[in-house]
Amino acid sequence: MAIRVLFPSSSSSSSSFSTAQPTRRTSRLRRGFCCFCSSSTTSSDEVSSSSSMMTVSITGATGFIGRRLVDKLLSEDHKVCVLTRSTSKNKASSVFPASRYPGVTIADKEGDWERCIRDSTGVVNLAGMPISTRWSPEVKKEILQSRVNVTSKVVDHVNTSTSASSNGNGNGPSVFVSATAVGYYGTSETDSFDESSPSGNDYLAHVCREWEGRARQVKQEHVRLVLIRIGVVLGKDGGALAKMIPLFMMFAGGPLGTGTQWFSWIHVDDLVDLIYESLRNPAYTGVINGTAPNPVRLSELCDRLGQVVGRPSWLPVPGLAIKALLGEGATVVLDGQKVLPARATHLGFSYRYPYVRDALKAIIAKQL
Ligand SMILES: NC(=O)c1ccc[n+]([C@@H]2O[C@H](COP(=O)([O-])OP(=O)(O)OC[C@H]3O[C@@H](n4cnc5c(N)ncnc54)[C@H](OP(=O)(O)O)[C@@H]3O)[C@@H](O)[C@H]2O)c1
Repeated sequence: MAIRVLFPSSSSSSSSFSTAQPTRRTSRLRRGFCCFCSSSTTSSDEVSSSSSMMTVSITGATGFIGRRLVDKLLSEDHKVCVLTRSTSKNKASSVFPASRYPGVTIADKEGDWERCIRDSTGVVNLAGMPISTRWSPEVKKEILQSRVNVTSKVVDHVNTSTSASSNGNGNGPSVFVSATAVGYYGTSETDSFDESSPSGNDYLAHVCREWEGRARQVKQEHVRLVLIRIGVVLGKDGGALAKMIPLFMMFAGGPLGTGTQWFSWIHVDDLVDLIYESLRNPAYTGVINGTAPNPVRLSELCDRLGQVVGRPSWLPVPGLAIKALLGEGATVVLDGQKVLPARATHLGFSYRYPYVRDALKAIIAKQL
């Protein structure tokens, strides 16, 4: 299992609480979202009354979070363009078969990515090689490069399409939502972090700064940028929990290492809602932590999970065994951070699952 939390630049804190500026971007937003006001306290209810149809291009759409986001967008009658790698074209076609996903366009070639982005109202960037592996020097390079390269490519297309838009050629996207991770903050058993906290010193913090730095190269005078520092995403089809549940079902679950490390989690449905809200609501700008308001220690998560699945949580897994298995990658399992969603709370974002017990119950109910 991997408690993995990747994610920019040292200037992030100053932009964290920025409000929308009256630029060409906001005038375009007003066109697209005529019922929104620019107040940072715009409520979800006000926003959800908008009937504006969106077309959203998504990288990493075939992954754990992306699949749920596509389903959410389609269920609300929006259109989706799946930006996948050419090596993943078959995977994308089987995840989103045309018969069941008529609203989805799959783009795997450079020119198709460009056209999709130009014709979209928003872009979401979720691509990246999984980090819950053993980290050889090559793997570490790929973890970083996969995020930086895809983000650079998408930013170039967004910037080109918005330049074309200012010349009267098409519209281009008005919002760019890019994933990053709470690994940005580094790890601590004592400190808590919000969006104004500085970045950490470890490898994942470095990856997140580079990743966010590329996303910040989008022309923010034209495009609203939202950087979501995602915590550990809980859901039934992937992520850390999918690896933990089978262990618990075999009576072998328990805290990893000491269990005192922090676990900043979010239910996948809440994260998808947060991304959706970021696409639609002009008050969502800059860095937003994608975590639930009540992070827990890992031992509590394991206790709760044990209760929910009706199994005891015992036999802590020794840190040394994990280090032997994962090498440096063990840091994402054995260390954590307490991250609070100050901005989402300030924006009035409404969580379906603010408490881990309810999140786990809902997930296990679907699992069994
Ligand atoms: N899940 C979490 O708990 C969590 C926590 C913090 C941050 N995040 C971040 O959120 C994003 C989405 O997470 P997820 O859990 O949905 O990830 P995922 O299931 O691993 O999917 C990521 C997608 O990225 C693409 N991808 C994979 N390897 C790649 C590579 N080497 N180069 C370029 N693209 C590659 C794939 O899409 P195609 O094959 O279609 O191209 C894949 O479906 C990731 O960037 C992740 O780091 C996730």
